[in-house]
Amino acid sequence: SSDSFIDSLMIEMSIEEKLGQLNLISTFVRTGPFANKRGAEKMKDGSAGNVFNLMGNSSSIQSKLELAEDTRLDIPFLSGLDIIHGFKTVFPVPLGMSCTWDTTLIEKTARVAAVEGSARGYNWTFSPMVDISRDPRWGRVMEGSGEDPYLGSKIAKAMVRGYQENDLTRPDAIMACVKHFALYGAAEAGRDYNVADMSLLTMYQNYLPPYKAAIDAGAGSVMVSFNEINGVPATANHWLLTDLLRDQWGFEGFVVTDYNAIQELIEHGVAADYKEAAELALAAGVDMDMVSEGFVAYLKQSLDQGKITKEQIDTAVRRVLEAKYKLGLFKDPYKDFDPQRADRVTLTPENKNVAKLAAQKSFVLLKNDRQVLPLNENSKIALVGPFADNRAEMLSSWSPLGDVENIISILEGLKKRNPNVIYAQGTQVNNDTLFNKKRKGEFDIAMQKKLVNEALHIANESDVIVAVLGESKEMSGEAKSRTDISIPECQVELLKALKVTGKPVVLLMMSGRPLTIENVLQYTDATLAIWRPGTEAGNAVANVLFGDYNPSGKLTMTFPRSVGQIPIYYNHKNTGRPYVEGGEENYLSNYLDERNSPLFPFGYGLSYTTFSYDDIVLSDSLMTTESSILKVNIKVTNTGDVAGEETVQLYLADPVASITRPVKELKKFHKVFLAPRESKNVNFEITTDDLKFYNASLEYNWEPGRFIIYIGGDSQSVQRAEFVWQK
Ligand code: IFM
Repeated sequence: SSDSFIDSLMIEMSIEEKLGQLNLISTFVRTGPFANKRGAEKMKDGSAGNVFNLMGNSSSIQSKLELAEDTRLDIPFLSGLDIIHGFKTVFPVPLGMSCTWDTTLIEKTARVAAVEGSARGYNWTFSPMVDISRDPRWGRVMEGSGEDPYLGSKIAKAMVRGYQENDLTRPDAIMACVKHFALYGAAEAGRDYNVADMSLLTMYQNYLPPYKAAIDAGAGSVMVSFNEINGVPATANHWLLTDLLRDQWGFEGFVVTDYNAIQELIEHGVAADYKEAAELALAAGVDMDMVSEGFVAYLKQSLDQGKITKEQIDTAVRRVLEAKYKLGLFKDPYKDFDPQRADRVTLTPENKNVAKLAAQKSFVLLKNDRQVLPLNENSKIALVGPFADNRAEMLSSWSPLGDVENIISILEGLKKRNPNVIYAQGTQVNNDTLFNKKRKGEFDIAMQKKLVNEALHIANESDVIVAVLGESKEMSGEAKSRTDISIPECQVELLKALKVTGKPVVLLMMSGRPLTIENVLQYTDATLAIWRPGTEAGNAVANVLFGDYNPSGKLTMTFPRSVGQIPIYYNHKNTGRPYVEGGEENYLSNYLDERNSPLFPFGYGLSYTTFSYDDIVLSDSLMTTESSILKVNIKVTNTGDVAGEETVQLYLADPVASITRPVKELKKFHKVFLAPRESKNVNFEITTDDLKFYNASLEYNWEPGRFIIYIGGDSQSVQRAEFVWQK
């Protein structure tokens, strides 16, 4: 059994060898007390038992992994990498993926990533990132699944299943690492790494569920977040890492810090020095130290001084060794690693097909006046924008190993279908002075004039303009917070000028977050959010623009009208002075200079067809038994002329309870495909489990009374029905 195997191994291990197992080094940057020692030396002498970011060709990766054989006990390495949205075959960024609301497809993308990654020598991925966020200023919303805990939990589970396949010993299974525990998405003011401060109620109800879901799905590891929680940095937070994670949730895997987070406890102001930082982290429940090397440098001394115990070290070592055992590394340290196999399983037509489907399904149609879309394939298209002929821009800051050569750019995708597409760059990406200074970029006014003129020239020759604008790859992601989340001014100026030509303008909006585009929509006839679409970008865009695929994506983050509305989210509270748009305003909860409503609500997304919803039919309106099931039925009809897929969303509200409850919460959804004029009955089942919430004592239960049920194609346009559930 693993226990006896690990017991006998641990008896053999010296304290140095044990601490080595708690050390995770990156091959990139050298930090910490051993900065001057090469990574390979540490792997060879056993002071680094785990590695991430192994790069280079297969034989160089292999030679690194083989260094385990030079160590006394031959303990294999965990080999980690940020395989976030695909490996060589790159899928849309996770925020885009979440807009598919298709957990089967999402699981498939994680599976493909695991197959491709394991064949190249990686057995551990730092994914899924499940941080709920209500703040699009935070650049990392790109990596998550948006604002909703229910949908976020479903996606978290699907990804863990995809990576681990419920059997980590499988050669092509890689270990998931759910991150960033916890509340990283609630960074104050959307500024990365900032303090997260919230009530326990909000934490339990809205922010914790996706982490818990990933853990319940068997995620083998957890990464700690950079932020503090209730005054204690997560990395030193015993309540978080032990009371909650271990004692309440029963997590049995291992906990790794984020990059250099142990050292950062000094800057946070809870540790006087490096050694104390390491002691605090271990005592809180951290098992593995990512790159700060505080554990390996100081914990022996701490042990000798009685600051920590042997049991604490042994517990952490055991968890790390168990992970290696579960992965089957003691039997085969290289698992599926096989360069020839890697070539066979990477970027296969099947994998690319998954990437194409995922990209198509991730696109959200925000506007389509006079049915400008789909386009006639033979129309004369002027394609403009700095991202249209740029393969690398289809990736994100988290797809470093994505294969650029195999990406289909938007220009290539459209040209394959219509060789007469004409292209002009049209604009530079950003004219913001501070941004350009920080990113070492430059805005050239003369060049801009020339670019705009070229674009206008081809626009005038065309039937329709397709403009690919928005954020570049380096405008969203880690450490990419923005206070102004609009499309950069120079790009908007181009759009304005294009609109003046009188030709229909289709905006393909690239971004890693919701953008404030209320003022921009007037210059477009159609707007399609395409996020960062990945390997099959061009093919997916062509299929959607020409109507081979009817867009079905639905937003998973609210689009604000302006930054001042942030944080903005659909499952908000009513307040004692709720404001109804268009009604009385004085002394009610609203703004003097902005509407309350979002630009586009959670769940929103148009289609080339339209769907209508009949009234909700309930099996009963008075439920009297706790264990019974309320059956809910609604007829949905495709009222248009093309087939399409609709995501039918069910929300519940609990208007009177012992604590205030959100105006509505997503509880179920169902995807339904309808031929033109076809109707289908969509059925849901509600049990008292769906009525449960955390009360003021943090007990998870339901309270009898009246409930409202809403069903619709987004969180705002809904049908309504009521029922009573008594105890
Ligand atoms: O996984 C990431 C994390 O999300 C941010 N800091 C670095 C880690 C490893 O690359």
